[in-house]
Order: sequence, then C-alpha cells, then structure tokens
Amino acid sequence: MDEQTLRKALSNIPLGGLRYLEKTGSTNDVALAWAADGAPDLTLVVAGEQTAGRGRGSHGWFTAPGTSLAFSLIFRPLPAEEQVTPLFSALGALAVCEVLAVQGFHPEIKWPNDVLLSRKKVCGVLAESIWAGEKVDSLVLGIGLNITPEALPPPDQLDFPATCLEAEVPFPRQDTGSLEQVILLQQIIQAVRYWRVLLTSSVFIHSWERHLAFRGEQVEIWTTGQASRIGQLDGLEQDGRLRLLTPQGRPFSVQFGEVHLRPVV
Ligand code: BTN
Repeated sequence: MDEQTLRKALSNIPLGGLRYLEKTGSTNDVALAWAADGAPDLTLVVAGEQTAGRGRGSHGWFTAPGTSLAFSLIFRPLPAEEQVTPLFSALGALAVCEVLAVQGFHPEIKWPNDVLLSRKKVCGVLAESIWAGEKVDSLVLGIGLNITPEALPPPDQLDFPATCLEAEVPFPRQDTGSLEQVILLQQIIQAVRYWRVLLTSSVFIHSWERHLAFRGEQVEIWTTGQASRIGQLDGLEQDGRLRLLTPQGRPFSVQFGEVHLRPVV
C-alpha cells in the first residue's frame, strides 16, 4: 500500500482527516494524540508497519510491513451514541465480519470483538476513549487484520490460535484481487459507516449476535485475576452483554471489560 493509492481509494468517503504512516509505533497512539489535538469525526490513521502495536490488556499486536491491515478511526460520539460507547468495538468487528462474508469467507465473532475464521483469530479490535469529565470526548477504534502468513506472531506468543486471510481463502476462489489491502480497508470503513447509524438499534445487536461464535456450546469465561465460569453460550442481551446458561439452564450475563473467552474442549 502507498499513500497515493490509499488517498485515491478513499476519496469518495467523507473522512475527517487521513494520515498514512509507512512505519509507526501504534496507529492507536497516533490517533489518540490527534484526537486530543482536535481531529474531526471519522479521521483515519493507517500504518504500513507498527513497531509497538497494542492489543487488549497487556498484549502487543505484531504488524510486519505489507502483511496486515493496521489502522485506527477517530470518532466524536454523537449525543445518542454516548450511551452506547462500549458498542464501538463490536461495530469494528461487525464491519470486518460483513466485509469478509461478502468476500466469501465464513467469519464469526468471538465475543466481544475478535473476528475468527475457522475458529482462529484473524482480526483484533482495540477501542480506546478520551474522556472529558463524565463524557467520552473521542473514541479511537483500532483494527488489525492479518492478511498474509507473515502477519502471525510466533505460536508461543499467542493466547488463542491465529490465522490470516490468505490461509483461509474460500475454495474454489481463484481471484484474490479484491483481497487487496486498500480495497478491504475501503470496504471496512464503508461498513463501519453503515453500521454506525444502526448502533443504537436492536438491528445492530441482532446482526452482531448472528455472527457470534460458539453459540449453543460450552465456553469458559473469566476476567484477569478472577475465577472462571463455564456456561453454554446463549446469545446477547439488548445492551450487548453476553448471555450464558448454567448447567441448570439458568441465564447469567457477562459485562464488557477485560473478559476472556474460550471454548471448552
Ligand atoms: C486485540 O485483539 O488484542 C486488539 C488488537 C488491535 C490491533 C490494532 S492494529 C491497529 C491499532 N493500533 C494498535 O496499536 N492496535 C490496534
């Protein structure tokens, strides 16, 4: 990807601003600094390589040049969106999922916001906010999508199996032209814009729920430092919390936060 191709591909999208960095520490860090400096809504930061990419919790996010999509979008939440800011990370996952589905893949979302192909993680989302008192002033949505096998970190650095688009190309597809990074990026941003309008509606929750991985299966769920719980993954509550069932069939919900989820095998 180069800046000129990127600007041309995104020229029909009303971005608030656009910065392409061939190499940077973390696009989320650049976007957070730009947001603090007044970047308008729907400003985009894209990097060809990240040397200090960040994942959720204390995890890093490996981005070698030319192997992945790594970008961050800045949002200035509208008054109606301020009530649902925790849903922005799901917005990123749903947008990626819908784009991959149109390309013939069979993506699923590991609640709350990891995108899986063949039950392996292909995309991670990191949403971070800047607060002004009680109110979210701006929100940065960072998305990393593995495209080539070189995007994957060594297996000993993974806490969940990982994959990339090239390893999962749906058979018998010959043409991988539209897997071109800049086209995927353009489609993902358009999908983000489409689903953002629906963020406060039940349509959004239902669409997210439709893509949920491990539905009807036993999963283990835990928060760092706390005991895990096992339950059957049932679906989503109206506010996006995950609903599970105890072995006795009693429902319980899990709030967003530093939550880990894995299937019970
Ligand atoms: C995760 O699954 O742990 C979230 C990974 C998020 C990675 C993306 S890559 C672009 C943006 N910049 C970062 O430093 N992180 C996010």
